[in-house]
Amino acid sequence: MNTPVISFAGATRTFPARRGPGVTAVDGVDLDIAEGGITGVIGWSGAGKSTLVRMINALELPTAGTVTVSGRVTSALSERGLRELRGEVGMIFQQFALLNSRTVAGNVGYPLKVAGWSREARRERVAELLEFVGLSELAGRYPARLSGGQKQRVGIARALATSPRILLADEATSALDPETTREVLALLRRVNRELGTTVVVITHEMEVVAAICDRVVVMEQGRVIEHGPVYDVFSAPEHPATRRFVHGVLQDVPSGETLDRLRARHPGRLVTVAIGGPDTDAADAQAAISRVPAAHGVRSTIVHGGIRELAQRPVGSLTLELDGDPDAVQACVDELSRHTRVTEPTAAEQTHVEPSR
Ligand SMILES: Nc1ncnc2c1ncn2[C@@H]1O[C@H](COP(=O)(O)OP(=O)(O)O)[C@@H](O)[C@H]1O
Ligand SMILES: [Mg+2]
Repeated sequence: MNTPVISFAGATRTFPARRGPGVTAVDGVDLDIAEGGITGVIGWSGAGKSTLVRMINALELPTAGTVTVSGRVTSALSERGLRELRGEVGMIFQQFALLNSRTVAGNVGYPLKVAGWSREARRERVAELLEFVGLSELAGRYPARLSGGQKQRVGIARALATSPRILLADEATSALDPETTREVLALLRRVNRELGTTVVVITHEMEVVAAICDRVVVMEQGRVIEHGPVYDVFSAPEHPATRRFVHGVLQDVPSGETLDRLRARHPGRLVTVAIGGPDTDAADAQAAISRVPAAHGVRSTIVHGGIRELAQRPVGSLTLELDGDPDAVQACVDELSRHTRVTEPTAAEQTHVEPSR
């Protein structure tokens, strides 16, 4: 990895409670974020995502450990160092946090005014930013007359005003409908690709991560429980919490009533075949599904599942009903499991079918 632009080392943030031991929102996090990518921080409410990310722009300081951003240790900064850091880290929010008494242009130019830019320099920069986010026409409008998506684009333009090296987005699309969410996510990706800004996106939605992130950090109870490239983490989640996020989205193995219905309709042997994942090749698995059953004289019917793209690569699972002589079906399952992961759907956990040697 390139030199990380953000580095957490044993970073901990405990909030004092009126009585008792206090709440440890972030608990001993060691994490490096390389410059130039889009990292998603995912977790359920209360996992510590906002606190972790607020430590990047020193809105929160660690109560133990350190956070180093762009070469600066946040807890050792002077007032001036803090101002410099905040100039390098922009942030957008779920509720947009726009100034209602100022126009779109006034909102976008506000951080520049605070930073002491001249009126003329501000005018030029604001025009450039509004063009980038596609809001040039609405420069004179007030926030009350903007849609949610437009408000968030104003938020993004404002956050980019001082050309930050890092952009933080805390649930920036959670208040938006799916269509607007896609637009805002596409804009965040442009910010990353065209301006080279390192983007950190907080979300509780796996689709947001799947849509734009290169890497993902999964948090639970203040800890980072899993992190890595999006494809690797989501195609083979190791931790139960991560599995809960990808469940459904990857059209996983049928269970419960779905499985009961499948069994009623399909009396043959049901097996679920993984397509893609860190240890299997999607194309190989797809070819095997098409070829292997027929080679064993087994009739194969796809009865459940799906394939989608994750980080631009296929991943998913297909459940097949295999019909034929039981020995031939077993030989077919054995051969399939030499190409990819094959499981037998059961009411509870899946039973792994080991390839026979
Ligand atoms: N300023 C605060 N004072 C006290 N407790 C806080 C404060 N901020 C966050 N917490 C607590 O820390 C935990 C993590 O919160 P947060 O970082 O907001 O999680 P998330 O963004 O994942 O929902 C929660 O239990 C929350 O109640
Ligand atoms: Mg939060």
